[in-house]
Amino acid sequence: MAQSAESLTTAGALVAVGVGPGDPELITLKGVRLIGEADVVITPVGDRSDSSIALSIISEYLAPERQQIISRVFPMRQPAEQMALAWREIAAEIAELVRAGRQVVFITLGDPMFYSTFLYLQHELETDYPDVSVRTVPGISSILDAAGKARLPLGFADDILTIVPATVSDEKLQSFLNSEGTLVLLKVYRAFPRIRSLLQKAGLAQKAVYIRRLGLTGEKIIHNLEQVAEEDLDYLSLILVRREAEHG
Ligand SMILES: C[S@@+](CC[C@H](N)C(=O)[O-])C[C@H]1O[C@@H](n2cnc3c(N)ncnc32)[C@H](O)[C@@H]1O
Repeated sequence: MAQSAESLTTAGALVAVGVGPGDPELITLKGVRLIGEADVVITPVGDRSDSSIALSIISEYLAPERQQIISRVFPMRQPAEQMALAWREIAAEIAELVRAGRQVVFITLGDPMFYSTFLYLQHELETDYPDVSVRTVPGISSILDAAGKARLPLGFADDILTIVPATVSDEKLQSFLNSEGTLVLLKVYRAFPRIRSLLQKAGLAQKAVYIRRLGLTGEKIIHNLEQVAEEDLDYLSLILVRREAEHG
């Protein structure tokens, strides 16, 4: 039966489950089931003082009386060797759990294959522990929830959809600003002043929609980048811009 093939079996396994952008109801039935069945749930945090947003999203699906819940720091914006060392340590810990027959779920915001911390881990596991079984359960990405809440189609008819992390250089970004279709800018937090000014120069700032903290406390959708205030800036934010004529 298809379902049993997807169940956590008696052999240990790692499953990365996408938990969606924030609303606990935006997670697949499979994700909820596997989280409930897991022996160990691992959640990434940015630094030791961080609480995990992914963990808070799934808190009602956990069984803490019988599950081990582990928070591990995935350092960001550190020298590459330091980050690689952290991922290697987490990969080693997970490999040990899986080899001991434990069912391990690693939770990620949105979708695990879309700009997620899980991808670093997957790389380490594939390289150093090819015997460890790794699967993913897709999650609803922030961009899908954002498009619906902003009432802005990501793609219609033959539209082109472009997704760019705002952390790229001005030069690269500029080339995308000049193209057609819908543009999604992720990771805009620290880059916001730079992005706003580039969009203003391109005559797109008023068409752009700023979306922050989807499904979480402080969610906000602002239909004009010029209306975004300093206090609206948040790590969990993205921008959508739609540039072509409406289709009939
Ligand atoms: C490291 S990427 C992870 C993307 C995630 N895997 C996904 O599928 O949405 C983080 C970026 O995703 C966007 N993001 C994730 N969750 C969000 C949310 N709840 N509200 C707004 N933006 C979000 C932001 O642009 C943030 O900087």
